[in-house]
Amino acid sequence: MTQKHVFLTGDRPTGKLHIGHYVGSLKNRVQLQNSGDYEPYIMIADTQALTDNARDPEKIQHSLLQVALDYLAVGLDPQKSTLLVQSQIPALSELTMVYLNLITVARLNRNPTVKTEIKQKAFGESVPAGFFIYPVSQAADITAFKADTVPVGDDQEPMLEQTREIVRSFNNIYGQKILVEPEGYFPPKGQGRIPGLDGNAKMSKSLNNAIYLGDDADTIQKKVMSMYTDPTHVHVEDPGHIEGNTVFTYLDIFGTDQAKIADLKAQYQHGGLGDVKIKRYLNEVLQAELKPIRERREQFAADPASVYAILKKGSEKANQVAAQTLHEVRHAVGVDYFG
Ligand code: TRP
Repeated sequence: MTQKHVFLTGDRPTGKLHIGHYVGSLKNRVQLQNSGDYEPYIMIADTQALTDNARDPEKIQHSLLQVALDYLAVGLDPQKSTLLVQSQIPALSELTMVYLNLITVARLNRNPTVKTEIKQKAFGESVPAGFFIYPVSQAADITAFKADTVPVGDDQEPMLEQTREIVRSFNNIYGQKILVEPEGYFPPKGQGRIPGLDGNAKMSKSLNNAIYLGDDADTIQKKVMSMYTDPTHVHVEDPGHIEGNTVFTYLDIFGTDQAKIADLKAQYQHGGLGDVKIKRYLNEVLQAELKPIRERREQFAADPASVYAILKKGSEKANQVAAQTLHEVRHAVGVDYFG
């Protein structure tokens, strides 16, 4: 039997997941899981979430279950994937300490993802040290499972580059090829990022412009009817723009009837097609996609104990794998004095 690939990925539990997460990475994870070619590890990154929420641990505690429900709802299957909780795997922290010595503060300062986040969160000089070094803990997450593949949104590429540098550095210095260099696995071009309902480039909880995987049918409909379209399209007869029109951007990503979408686009550009009609159609499309997800979510939500049991079992398995990698790393570094 040929050896399977391994993938590892995860999310910080700071709230429920939305359809931006779905197209950005959840869909790919389910697809890789179901391909049968991978051994999947899906991690709820609560330790990482605490790096900028140390004073609000209840938020992380509460979101842990929400994210687990979202995972199960989209079809991540505990029979096929190991679902784990980062804080329950002590080897990850220990690996982080080893890797911290292989990277400079200057290099961390240049990480574009962290740089952007520090700006967004307005940390300035008061960025928590744990937050600043989270790319290193992410390298620990990936390498602990010897993952060669990391399905994430394209904003995570700088994290992967940093992980590869740490792996190369480790393998060079300690002369053993224990650690594996990971590759990102990204959504198809143009399909991986959806704007917010308000047309903002990013969908996020803080911008209040998201559709959540757990939203009920009415909420989805209201949100769709409120979406940003084309401010120059005032009267139905006016020619409208489809570029930058959030409704059409969503249709391109979620729609299945390409001929119908092409037709609607032509009519809209020509004039004579109102926003209400295209929104109603998008609503149909989204409801069809999200209904089975919401129903599965509700089933699991009715039995939180079973969800915690899944996470506990997954974390136990993950612990064994990560402990084995740590054992090899300690041996390579030479700190296994007592065997
Ligand atoms: N940084 C990811 C997020 O923003 C979560 C995460 C933690 C992760 N460790 C990871 C993703 C390792 C991929 C691989 O939610």
